[in-house]
Amino acid sequence: MNQPLVWMNGHFVEYGSAKVSVEDRGFQFCDGIYEVVRAVEGRFYGFQQHLERMRRSLHSVEIEVLMSDSEFQGIADQMLAESHERDATLYVQITRGAAPRSHVIPREITPTIIMILRSFHPVDESVHSNGIKVIAVKDERWARCDIKLTGLLPNILAREKARRAGVDDAIFVREGWVAEGTSTNVFAVCNDVLVTPLADHRILRGITRDAVLTLARERKVNTAERDLSISDLKAAPEVFLTSTTMEVLPVVEIDHLPVGTGQVGPMTKRLLGGYRDVLHGRAAGESNAR
Ligand code: PDD
Repeated sequence: MNQPLVWMNGHFVEYGSAKVSVEDRGFQFCDGIYEVVRAVEGRFYGFQQHLERMRRSLHSVEIEVLMSDSEFQGIADQMLAESHERDATLYVQITRGAAPRSHVIPREITPTIIMILRSFHPVDESVHSNGIKVIAVKDERWARCDIKLTGLLPNILAREKARRAGVDDAIFVREGWVAEGTSTNVFAVCNDVLVTPLADHRILRGITRDAVLTLARERKVNTAERDLSISDLKAAPEVFLTSTTMEVLPVVEIDHLPVGTGQVGPMTKRLLGGYRDVLHGRAAGESNAR
């Protein structure tokens, strides 16, 4: 695909000429939400779960969208077919729409709905085989991180802080408790239990997080969704991150100290392999959301 495909407010638009108004509330207030869905081997993975989360985000910010799930699915499928891509990401963004700037939500406003489909280029395989280094950063975000809001500036600044510290990413910590990565969820192995923070208002409930939890349970791994302290995270023999684009990403260093032996651990390897089987439709079971 030479250029990403763009669908905007009911029409396919040339990538270079797809434009939104200067008065779009997404631009002025970050008054909007988004989703990132992945297509693997010519099919979207977990489309329904992404739609459900998108509806939850829309409901939380009180943006009303009249398009049905099957309309979203139909356009996404059409974009994927037209792109001839086997591996792609679909970015869906919905803002409240355009209106003269005001803190008051206008009564009559039409949401701006954008879908961008682009080819997916995974990170080099060495990233998954060697693992990544992270730092812990103070979580200064708002109290509704469960909403997939376009306002990602704290995440971007945390990522930049990590880059300056010579590492790959950052993990948000709120009052000593681990929240999530800048664009990932966090897992740790603690006393042979796979632990991940509870999906409450403090984190985004990742589609990959849920798939990995299901996969682990299917494989008789003990799991727990509970508060995880930063000291427990640092003492854990294995830590990994999950997301749509990064799958299961091993962490081998936190704040310049090795995680476990400093090598990718066996549980992480197993779950990365298992998750990839699910993603590529090679596995049966509940975790298969294709
Ligand atoms: N990010 N937490 C945050 C803050 C995220 O932004 C994401 C996803 C996740 C993982 O969610 P999922 O497994 O559904 O991808 C957790 C996307 C990929 C992004 O912003 O590009």
